Amino acid sequence: MRTPPVEPSRFASLWSDLAVIGRDRLRGGYSRHGFDDADLHLREWFTAQAQRRGLDVETDRNGNVWAWWGTPGAGAVVTGSHLDSVPGGGAFDGPLGVVSALLAVDELRVRGVRPTRPLAVACFTEEEGGRFGLACLGSRLMTGAVDADQVRRLHDGAGQTLAEAARRAGVDPAHMGPDPERVAMIGSFIELHVEQGRLLKSASPAGAPAAIGVGSEIVAHGRWRLSLTGEGNHAGTTVADDRHDPMIPAAATVLAARRAITARPGAVATVGRIQPVPGGTNVIASRVDVWLDARYLDGAATGELVDEIVAAVREEAALEGCALTVHRESMSDRVDFDPGLAMQLAEQLGAPIVPTGAGHDAGVLAAHVPSAMLFVRNPTGISHAPGEHAETADCITGVEALADALEVQLR
Ligand code: GLV
Ligand code: MN
Ligand code: MN
Ligand code: MN
Repeated sequence: MRTPPVEPSRFASLWSDLAVIGRDRLRGGYSRHGFDDADLHLREWFTAQAQRRGLDVETDRNGNVWAWWGTPGAGAVVTGSHLDSVPGGGAFDGPLGVVSALLAVDELRVRGVRPTRPLAVACFTEEEGGRFGLACLGSRLMTGAVDADQVRRLHDGAGQTLAEAARRAGVDPAHMGPDPERVAMIGSFIELHVEQGRLLKSASPAGAPAAIGVGSEIVAHGRWRLSLTGEGNHAGTTVADDRHDPMIPAAATVLAARRAITARPGAVATVGRIQPVPGGTNVIASRVDVWLDARYLDGAATGELVDEIVAAVREEAALEGCALTVHRESMSDRVDFDPGLAMQLAEQLGAPIVPTGAGHDAGVLAAHVPSAMLFVRNPTGISHAPGEHAETADCITGVEALADALEVQLR
């Protein structure tokens, strides 16, 4: 029998707890990064909320937090998302999946569901890579998709290593790395997430977008760092012919990225971060690091896209007398979510199946366990920015849909 809908005030109460944590007064929105003060505060909040629900909370060797209903063990149904954000990010990317998971547990209890297998709500470490540069850090470490030694040495903008930051958060960096027993316990993983872009609108061109969508796949995506080295000098005394200014090929990177994606419908490439060294208004930089985010159909197509951009930058660098080195920081090939699970959820929820250009922990887990994603309608599609939004009524629909999905998995 259908129970009454989830009370909006129950959602609002959890949401208002989070609203005050990790606000970024300089950039707007939220800046919550792996193992920083905001992240530790969010972890405490999650632990308290989970314990209030009688769930058993543990932090795994990679700093991912798990709240268990039932004894951890094989065939576990896992849901959740992440609590960190991009710099100056929105409120929904990540936390919506965590809050919805907690409320879905409440809802399952209201429905009188008695799980026949363990259920866990998981919060993954540093999904955005906003502090240490590597996205899906916690899920990649857990599944062995990245080398733990390299990860321990990653550092943030202030020079603190990930190992130091983890230690401060009570996570022993020496123990970070693959966690095959934990991965083996996961029977299925369902991550609810705010919609990013207008995927639900494009799935229903004639009518209003559906409130909920089911993910089919994530396009290939990666991050590259282009380091351009020139000659540091005085901005006031160095004439044009004497300059070896790495900012010139850095600017060319931005333009080459736009040109390359304009020639390839469906491709995207972004320079969202650039760091001149030393970074003074009256100084010609000696070096500029430029980060390129590129996403396209599959690994080969994305590689070819990036090659074209890099070739253009190399040409500009040579003209300016600058050197270029390129470092691929991460790359994920196209991921298909479990097609059977996606079809079943789409039928069960009456929701369209849509692809996404955003990376997720569910995408990392999909290589190991049947994984699925539910997307909650976002009226503007804006994400990774303070304007990210979902209506409370749609968030409630999301909680109900997640509870429906988990209920079937728990049978
Ligand atoms: C993470 O959200 C990404 O897609 O970059
Ligand atoms: Mn994100
Ligand atoms: Mn996310
Ligand atoms: Mn993501």
